[in-house]
Amino acid sequence: MTTETIPAPRSSYTPPRKRRVNWEKWGWLYMRVSGLFLVVLIFGHLFVNLVSGAGVRAIDFAFVAGKWADPFWMVWDTLMLVLALIHGANGMRTVTNDYAHRPILRKTLLGAILVSTVVLLVLGILVIYTFDPCPSNAIAGTLPAFCKAH
Ligand code: HEM
Repeated sequence: MTTETIPAPRSSYTPPRKRRVNWEKWGWLYMRVSGLFLVVLIFGHLFVNLVSGAGVRAIDFAFVAGKWADPFWMVWDTLMLVLALIHGANGMRTVTNDYAHRPILRKTLLGAILVSTVVLLVLGILVIYTFDPCPSNAIAGTLPAFCKAH
């Protein structure tokens, strides 16, 4: 009885790899692009609040109320909130993946980052778009003086 060895095939069939979204690549890109926007948004915010006009002494409840009565600053602050929160959360995800080696700890931390980011995003956006400095049901005497003009 002769034993024959079957020669190795010249080309083996490899099933085509499924094209998946490369989230790591998009996350990397997001950090750079959001960073560029954040430089303008954060330094613009600091300049308007602390330097221009009467500077830091002008900041009080009325100053914030005035800014959020203007759609321009509502959109500015929304962009700053959304871009910075997702940027910070994605950065913390990277740090967690680098340093938390135990799977249970890693998953817990990533879950906590996700939950806190979503909660802060929802609360922050709600505050910007529902803020009313002179609510009609306020307790008498608790409203700022400028509400009398309403
Ligand atoms: C002036 C605006 C900002 C710019 C230009 C900027 C830029 C960057 C860039 C390019 C990275 C990626 C670094 C890397 O992959 O090695 C990064 C990472 C990070 N950023 Fe920002 N960022 C800004 C603001 C912020 C803010 C406001 C926060 C917090 C909410 C933040 C939190 C983080 C964190 C936690 C990381 C991860 C650090 C790490 O991987 O070691 N950044 N930032």
